[in-house]
Amino acid sequence: MKEYKTKIPVKLGSIDRDSLLHFMMWRNQPSIMKRTRQWKLLTMEDQEIWYDSIVGAKWPESIMFTIEASLVENTTDKTSSFFTHQFKNKDKSEVNLSWQGVGVAGLCYIDYIARSAELSIYIGSKSYQRKGIGTATVQLLKEWAFNKMNLRKIWAEVYDHVEPVHEFVKANGFKEVGRLPDTVFKDGDYQNSIYYAYYDTEYMHEKAMGKV
Ligand SMILES: CC(C)(COP(=O)(O)OP(=O)(O)OC[C@H]1O[C@@H](n2cnc3c(N)ncnc32)[C@H](O)[C@@H]1OP(=O)(O)O)[C@@H](O)C(=O)NCCC(=O)NCCS
Repeated sequence: MKEYKTKIPVKLGSIDRDSLLHFMMWRNQPSIMKRTRQWKLLTMEDQEIWYDSIVGAKWPESIMFTIEASLVENTTDKTSSFFTHQFKNKDKSEVNLSWQGVGVAGLCYIDYIARSAELSIYIGSKSYQRKGIGTATVQLLKEWAFNKMNLRKIWAEVYDHVEPVHEFVKANGFKEVGRLPDTVFKDGDYQNSIYYAYYDTEYMHEKAMGKV
């Protein structure tokens, strides 16, 4: 797994109804829509239905989190993050840590019998991409999948035209396991799907080697 010189602290937070507007704005960006299964603009009603389907269920089909990052630099892009929690030093002198919600991630299509789930992740603003936040998030999702939920496999479906995501999943230890042609119609053309998987055995191995 990729090692970053300056690691941005990342944690997974719970999602709540108040976050839905922000998620909707992120997901409706054309740059994100072309990489996901979404084909129409989401409304707040869609968001509410989605939220109600995942909260409260004992065995939900998806577990979703906000990606919270502790960032030092500020951005002028007001839509890039949706909250900031600041923590003071013990003597309350100055702020030493600030967490911002910068994206959404989780495990979807959870199959509790086959013990598998699909990786879902997006960082809402370009200003927070390519800084290692996605990699740190996948690491935390692996911990959830294998240490807390006793899953066996995390899989990912990536359309063949989104090269950066292929690089990203491979950089995070996922291996190609299959291809299906013409799974989706985007930008006037059919796209193929490439499937990737990462197994619990690989996680245990990487852990034993001190890599994760
Ligand atoms: C894809 C995404 C989750 C990656 O998260 P990230 O924090 O930007 O990625 P990281 O900084 O952890 O990158 C890890 C490695 O992945 C690969 N990678 C990530 N983004 C890349 C890009 N745009 N181009 C090429 N390689 C990329 C690189 O190997 C990178 O290592 P490097 O920066 O040292 O070269 C994020 O960019 C994102 O949310 N994009 C928009 C939504 C999306 O595409 N979601 C996935 C839908 S299936």
